[in-house]
Amino acid sequence: MSESSPCRLGVLVSGSGTNLQVIIDRIESGEINAEIACVVSNKADAYALTRAAKHGIPVVVHENTRFPERRSYDSATVEILRSYKVDLVVLAGFMRILTDAMVDAFPNAIMNIHPALLPSFQGLHAQQQALDYGVRYSGCTVHFVDCGTDTGPIILQSVVPVEQDDTEETLSARIQKAEHQTFTTAIKLFVEGKIQVDGRKVRIKT
Ligand code: GRF
Repeated sequence: MSESSPCRLGVLVSGSGTNLQVIIDRIESGEINAEIACVVSNKADAYALTRAAKHGIPVVVHENTRFPERRSYDSATVEILRSYKVDLVVLAGFMRILTDAMVDAFPNAIMNIHPALLPSFQGLHAQQQALDYGVRYSGCTVHFVDCGTDTGPIILQSVVPVEQDDTEETLSARIQKAEHQTFTTAIKLFVEGKIQVDGRKVRIKT
């Protein structure tokens, strides 16, 4: 990406949007040379939409309930993202598994944040899974998205301790702090052209 044409992000959300907020803040502060072209939500009441609108970012409510199956929903999502000329798709709390209709349209250009150290604790309630297993450390993982559930090539991970008295809420809060830092660092690396993917392995250029 050149200085004159910032990388265009399409951010997909379903909920509160704290990760979206940090991305917005780091772009506005000039740390990340990108522009959020659109925020797309599959939930009409996602607070992330309010956050985006406050910053003048175009928002699209794109409810999956209107589509008979996942693939047709994803094909429609691709059309939306293409209409906004998106370079990088960022899944910031987007609670859906993608099909090949999305994955093939943006090869190695869809990033997700997961609240555990993959490949441990894939899928939903990763923080509770970590507590139930009794691990001493958990964390978060930023990875490229393939058609599996949290299985794509790993870009960055951050570790946080699990305390003896943690609940799902306290551990989630600790992990979320790490998520905000790790996700925005990965986006910055992508925008600066510093990420190279070789099969499952991601190399960060220094
Ligand atoms: C985060 O915990 C992330 O790991 C998971 O969804 C949550 C989104 O939180 N994929 P927020 O909407 O960014 O606050």
